[in-house]
Amino acid sequence: MKAYEKLLEANKSWASATVGQDPEFFSRLANVQSPEYLWIGCSDSRVPPNEITGTKPGEIFIHRNIANMVVHTDLNMLSVLQYAVEVLKVKHVIVCGHYGCGGVKAAMTRKSLGIINKWLRNIKDVYRFHKDEVDSIPDEGGRVNKLIELNVVEQVMNLAKTSIIQKAWQTNNAPHLHGWVYGLDNGLIKPIFEMPAGTHFDDLYEFDNL
Ligand code: CO
Repeated sequence: MKAYEKLLEANKSWASATVGQDPEFFSRLANVQSPEYLWIGCSDSRVPPNEITGTKPGEIFIHRNIANMVVHTDLNMLSVLQYAVEVLKVKHVIVCGHYGCGGVKAAMTRKSLGIINKWLRNIKDVYRFHKDEVDSIPDEGGRVNKLIELNVVEQVMNLAKTSIIQKAWQTNNAPHLHGWVYGLDNGLIKPIFEMPAGTHFDDLYEFDNL
């Protein structure tokens, strides 16, 4: 059997085991999804959103990219966000980073990696904003982990800067925004930042004519 064929075999067993436990599972999900959560996470293969949160198909709407970024010109992220907020009406948006993130590590070096440089530049900007705080930590691992946390906070704030979130806060008083960091070494998620719907953060970014 070729390596990838294992995936197809495993899929068959999973589908039949799932139906075995709950005969209506797939027919219920086939026509409608009403997830309560939007997850914006890192593409890292070690951070699978459903698995680490004990959720099933249908429970989380998911967007992943390198280093769980919320970049205001990213049409892909904006489309996912708009659909999740305005159509699915998710109650919570979670930005989940993870300790040991290779994207954040790479952004702290001067190494050129090609196209990805353009993406990592967004993280370099976060580093520049918080350089004194990050550089005050004596060990390299600690500095990386601090930037990982600060990056999650900045990405949650980037969500709050979008007209999509600001409009939803005005009209629906939702969604609530959360910043989490997952530990690759212990499997635990640490909540580090929260912006409940309607949080006032900075006049400069808050539109008054949405
Ligand atoms: Co990562």
